[in-house]
Amino acid sequence: MISKNLAKELNKQINKELYSEYLYLSMATYADDQGLSGIANWFKAQGQEEHSHAMKIYEYLYDQGKRVILDTIEKPRADFDSIKQLFDLSLEHEKYVTSSINELMDLAIKDNDHATVSFLQWFVGEQVEEEASVNAILDKFTYMKESGIGLIMLDKELSARK
Ligand code: FEO
Repeated sequence: MISKNLAKELNKQINKELYSEYLYLSMATYADDQGLSGIANWFKAQGQEEHSHAMKIYEYLYDQGKRVILDTIEKPRADFDSIKQLFDLSLEHEKYVTSSINELMDLAIKDNDHATVSFLQWFVGEQVEEEASVNAILDKFTYMKESGIGLIMLDKELSARK
């Protein structure tokens, strides 16, 4: 049985995932405003993934007989200086989410809650992928000037994300 405290913390994680969705959508608006619809597409897809993360926790809480209580979603940042900054901030944000997932895992282990440990395992793996995908994009910036052809090529590449 999932503890009251762990259920409360999982509820908070739903809010963090929904905030992530909102943050990435805000980043998409910046890319769209710059005329880089491929990069905007990548951030929109990223936002949709965050929504699915929130819903996974939502369904899990109900499977465990716990109530989901939705809270206010913080306003996301709207001002950005560059496309590269979007990815720098994304990596920073994903590291924050990773630490949050790790804290949930620590709590589940402390509670001896095997079901939640198993549930959270998926998120642990997902965070490795999330950080790796942003890192791979940031690596490309090492080889290109932000305002050059490289950015156009990156835009084309990221337009393919579903
Ligand atoms: Fe749901 Fe990007 O962490």
